[in-house]
Amino acid sequence: MTIDVQILNALRAAAGGSVSGTELSQSLGVSRAAVWARIEELRSLGYDIEASPHLGYRLLAAPDVLHADDLISRLGPPRVIGRDIRVFQSTTSTNDVVEKLARDGVKEGAVVFAESQTCGRGRLGRKWLSPARKGLWFSVLLRPEMRPTEATRLTVASATALRRALHSQTGLEAEIKWPNDLLIHGRKTAGILTELSAELDRIKYVILGIGVDVNFSPADFPAELRSQATSLKAELGKPVFCPHLAVAILKELDHDYARITAGHFADIAEEWEKHCTTIGRNVTIRVGARQISGRAEALGDEGALLLRTEHGHLERIVGGDVTIEE
Ligand code: BTN
Repeated sequence: MTIDVQILNALRAAAGGSVSGTELSQSLGVSRAAVWARIEELRSLGYDIEASPHLGYRLLAAPDVLHADDLISRLGPPRVIGRDIRVFQSTTSTNDVVEKLARDGVKEGAVVFAESQTCGRGRLGRKWLSPARKGLWFSVLLRPEMRPTEATRLTVASATALRRALHSQTGLEAEIKWPNDLLIHGRKTAGILTELSAELDRIKYVILGIGVDVNFSPADFPAELRSQATSLKAELGKPVFCPHLAVAILKELDHDYARITAGHFADIAEEWEKHCTTIGRNVTIRVGARQISGRAEALGDEGALLLRTEHGHLERIVGGDVTIEE
């Protein structure tokens, strides 16, 4: 744990009260001058920390930016997801950064955030708009003991976790559109890009890339997306504090990953079906050059969509572009 995490933890534990410089220097095992230098550094990052010669330090406010130490301090000890958090000002795609970490042998649970991405990507080779301070753009490294055919479970679990976090932080009810979209009032607010490296019967690692349109104004979306996309700010009429939302999402992801590894995918599937707008609807799914139409009946064991075709066959669909008919 870095000194900054420990200082932020101590200031937060004081719950609006002060912590003396002597107390901090003793508990951290560094000089009072070193504590002062770290406090000055935190202030330069935007933390409002009051310093009083008699009472010590008091945290008044934190900035609406992502700092790894701040996220670690807010998160507390996770089971898996978030035990290593890194924040980049800008990167090509956080999925690329996590892929490199995966190849370097980094443990599962590492999370990489970027304030902005220059080559953010969505599913099916689409571009993902990721400007600074407008959203959460991050990727999680997982090494689940699973067959590659079960990987859709992780997308399903991420969508349920994300939906719960959006609800707890904003009160907004998002719907899930299979397999990976979160919609509010029918417009896309968040998406998940699951990429994996696998052998025939075993996953080596999975990268869960998550993008949430948090503080976009309608005018920030390109004209061609305006009717299909929305943000939390646009829906709420006020901005959302990104560090709170980021931590809430990581906690929910950690919770659902534990449910999956404990063999409780069925509980997640049940929750997912309750909030999924695709189930029970007539849909057309494009998978490469193929197009299949039918009624989305349920979620299969491995996270696949079970589609009853016009000919009465039940097809198991693991990916594709869904258009809801009617
Ligand atoms: C989709 O809906 O098509 C998936 C969008 C996923 C976007 C996120 S943003 C963080 C991560 N890095 C990327 O390049 N993509 C994912």
